[in-house]
Amino acid sequence: TPLSHIRNFSIVAHIDHGKSTLADRLIQSTHTVADRDMKEQMLDAMDIERERGITIKANTVRIDYVADNGEAYVLNLIDTPGHVDFAYEVSRSMRAVEGSLLVVDSTQGVEAQTLANVYQAIDADHEIVPILNKIDLPAADCDRVAEQIEDVIGIDASGAIRVSAKTGIGIHETLEAIVHHLPAPKGDENADLKAMLVDSWYDSYLGVIVLVRIIDGRLKKGERIKFLSNGTVHHVDRIGVFRPQMQVIDSLGPGEIGFLTASIKQVRDTRVGDTVTHDKKTVQALPGFKPAQPVVFCGLFPVDSSEFEDLRDAIDKLALNDASFSFEMETSAALGFGFRCGFLGLLHLEVIRDRIEREYDIELITTAPSVVYRIFMRDGSMQELHNPADMPDLSVVDHLEEPRIKATILVPDDYLGDVLKLCQDRRGVQLDLTYAGSRAMVVYDLPLNEVVFDFYDRLKSVTKGYASFDYQMTGYQTDNLVKMSVLVNDEPVDALSMMVHRDRAETRGRAMVEKLKDLIPRHMFKIPIQAAIGGKVIARETLSAMRKDVTAKCYGGDATRKRKLLDKQKAGKKKMRQFGKVDIPQEAFISALKMD
Ligand code: GTP
Repeated sequence: TPLSHIRNFSIVAHIDHGKSTLADRLIQSTHTVADRDMKEQMLDAMDIERERGITIKANTVRIDYVADNGEAYVLNLIDTPGHVDFAYEVSRSMRAVEGSLLVVDSTQGVEAQTLANVYQAIDADHEIVPILNKIDLPAADCDRVAEQIEDVIGIDASGAIRVSAKTGIGIHETLEAIVHHLPAPKGDENADLKAMLVDSWYDSYLGVIVLVRIIDGRLKKGERIKFLSNGTVHHVDRIGVFRPQMQVIDSLGPGEIGFLTASIKQVRDTRVGDTVTHDKKTVQALPGFKPAQPVVFCGLFPVDSSEFEDLRDAIDKLALNDASFSFEMETSAALGFGFRCGFLGLLHLEVIRDRIEREYDIELITTAPSVVYRIFMRDGSMQELHNPADMPDLSVVDHLEEPRIKATILVPDDYLGDVLKLCQDRRGVQLDLTYAGSRAMVVYDLPLNEVVFDFYDRLKSVTKGYASFDYQMTGYQTDNLVKMSVLVNDEPVDALSMMVHRDRAETRGRAMVEKLKDLIPRHMFKIPIQAAIGGKVIARETLSAMRKDVTAKCYGGDATRKRKLLDKQKAGKKKMRQFGKVDIPQEAFISALKMD
């Protein structure tokens, strides 16, 4: 296909505005997939994505389209992940295409992720075609939403296409707009091969599959290629495109998007954003390459300690396909053997945890998520802190730095006060406040540490679900942070220790010990529960001793009933963690780490 007849694009949208449905409709209406093979959400490969309706891995499809002018075009759609945790992947896949369809739900309007993603598209110099979706719904208000797109995003929305991805209205217009409004790719077939590694994933039959966008030159089967970031050389054994199922072809030329396999064993050896060329050639690397860094860490421990090896197995398998997920073994006095894992964000954490529980059937205890702190030592060195339990003694520490984010929140006026209060409570600094229609857009500078706990949940509850939220990391800043430990029966429970701001330590400590008092069952003896900073106790509760034997009320008569009660107690015990002389139920760890 000549460059002039190729169009490469992505679809940007807020979650649930209809990105996947539109992609499905484009695939279907061009007969890329026979109707009988069409299943909903063709592009969401993994079950978990389908279930939760979120797109995690970028996927791609090549569509043949004969336009109204009679010419045949090749349209390559790269489906980008919609969530902030995967912002880096979004930004890379955006650089692999020249245009974007901006999908906005015409019953809802612009939301936080719409903004985050469209700014990425603008950064990547995309031509943007605005699409007002869900016009079949009575609540659709296209004029208002078009105006909002112009106000908030600042792009011309007068020609926005009115679409119902559900019923098919406007799909033909969308295809024509892709051909006529989005630019053709540029590239030089005769130059040395230069391709961008857009994505990669592990397939149990083919090994690692690498999605590439050819910038210059031509890539053929049987050639030897090199990844610039690490200099590794591989022999290409297969080249193809997605329609959306794999179709093997002989070569890929400039402007084209497709996959290669080259007996690569691990996803870790292929880095999103890397530059690919022929072995022995030197080309200039594509700009801005950086490997994705985990920003949130937490411990994952099996509830049943005999499942540790199964957990290792599950984590190994998941990591095969997810280079941004990091892990190392961790032992906790409270929780036994487990893993300290690093994630791109909270959603990423949740997805991995869910997959372990569901696909591998292992019940997990997750410790409090922690961000990566920088510890500056008295001796001038710096180290990263991934686990509050590893916090060195304060006498050797000069100061600490914590990561900050820039958060953008869109919210209906009525809830603005609550949102401002929430951000203020979380040590936020307001950067901006503007209005778009009846909605406010607030921008806050916040410590990431205050967001990883339950910020999403709180935001949702104070706004009854009407706020949308997005963030990006901005950098590190010094603050007065301390490690708070929790002691149960005078023994520190490592899994409950956390980093907190000094000014909020008392409040957090008090809340924690009060909660634990309710969560830990009474024992035969009195149990002090304390929160402490260094050696200093900042909050304390005492769980009084249990007086009655549970079986006492059976009067020794009914033996079956007595045994049943004891069995019940035993079953309850299994879900407990023995800690010193105290049994702590697993829910205690989960609930105690949530804040109100
Ligand atoms: P993620 O994959 O989670 O990012 O969401 P998405 O943006 O891909 O949205 P998706 O296509 O899954 O659509 C969200 C919901 O809106 C689904 O229940 C769709 O059936 C529905 N939907 C999508 N397009 C339309 C439309 O044009 N009209 C109506 N009535 N519903 C639609």
